[in-house]
Amino acid sequence: MGIKGLVESGYLNSIPPEYVFPSNLNDLEVEEVPTVDFSQLTAGTPDERSKAIQVIGKACREWGFFMVINHSMPRRLMDEMLNVGERFFDLAEEEKQDHAGKELFDPIRCGTGFNNGLGNVFLWRDYLKVHVHPHFHAPHKPADFRETSEEYCKKARDVAEELLKGISKSLGQEENYIHKKMDVESGSQLLVMNLYPPCPRPELVMGMPPHSDHGILTLLMQNDVCGLQILHNGKWVPVNPPPYSFLVNTGDHMEILTNGRYESVVHQVVVNSNATRMTIATGHGPPLGAIISPAAELVDSENHPPKYQGMKYRDYIELQQTNQLEGKSCLDRVRI
Ligand code: OGA
Ligand code: NI
Repeated sequence: MGIKGLVESGYLNSIPPEYVFPSNLNDLEVEEVPTVDFSQLTAGTPDERSKAIQVIGKACREWGFFMVINHSMPRRLMDEMLNVGERFFDLAEEEKQDHAGKELFDPIRCGTGFNNGLGNVFLWRDYLKVHVHPHFHAPHKPADFRETSEEYCKKARDVAEELLKGISKSLGQEENYIHKKMDVESGSQLLVMNLYPPCPRPELVMGMPPHSDHGILTLLMQNDVCGLQILHNGKWVPVNPPPYSFLVNTGDHMEILTNGRYESVVHQVVVNSNATRMTIATGHGPPLGAIISPAAELVDSENHPPKYQGMKYRDYIELQQTNQLEGKSCLDRVRI
């Protein structure tokens, strides 16, 4: 039974002790995450475009996160994705497990707070993870999941590619630089749907513990319920993205490729007592077999020698997902 099932069973009088998470909720800070106007990046005047690139560069240096508005993903499709995701989580438990593999690299996996690879920390979250590129997969229920998610994931890749052009330019490189370096064409894309049901004692539990994302870039959208917090200058900053925007963050492999210029930033998810939160993330990475190390063009061997050693992307994910430590522990394993 997932957390959704647990909450809906009506028997939840107190929080099961396995779910009690050591508190992280001190020191909240209200600050505005930078916003990138996608239309200016892709269709603006040269002046608008260069300003958008500057905003991206500053956001990558100072935050590792930015919100993207006026992007090319249709609102209709974002609504449809949330809707089909909701109907997936509404399926009976056996139906959900029906098409779910057990191994880390199985193309479709779904799970809950207590099979999350984190040992004995239980999280207030149900999830579905689907490998959607270079080979597309989809659960066979609900019937329209395949068509909707295929269109969504393709368009999310288009958005990611445009953003990567901007990021490449912000590093002083030509626009296809990261695309080529990371072989994004045959790269991996993972679709993740997260469901965080309401919790009677939200301060005791955690939706997702502090972590950074593997890969190059993550695009996240949510229903209208907030919960994500970003670790920024030592304080947790709650994020409140405008409707139909994307929240974008750079991943560990961007940090590795740029030799630490663009750090992947730690974030976490808290839950609340009155509304179900749903998020849909697409994680964009290099091919699973690729070995990413700091790029020669971005390493100044006199002043900034390479800070990370290369590791096959697949091995990195395996290390991260079976890791019991918090935060950026996995990145620490490749740090020189
Ligand atoms: C993730 C993640 C945030 C959220 O899936 O890696 O950080 O708000 N999700 O669901
Ligand atoms: Ni994340």
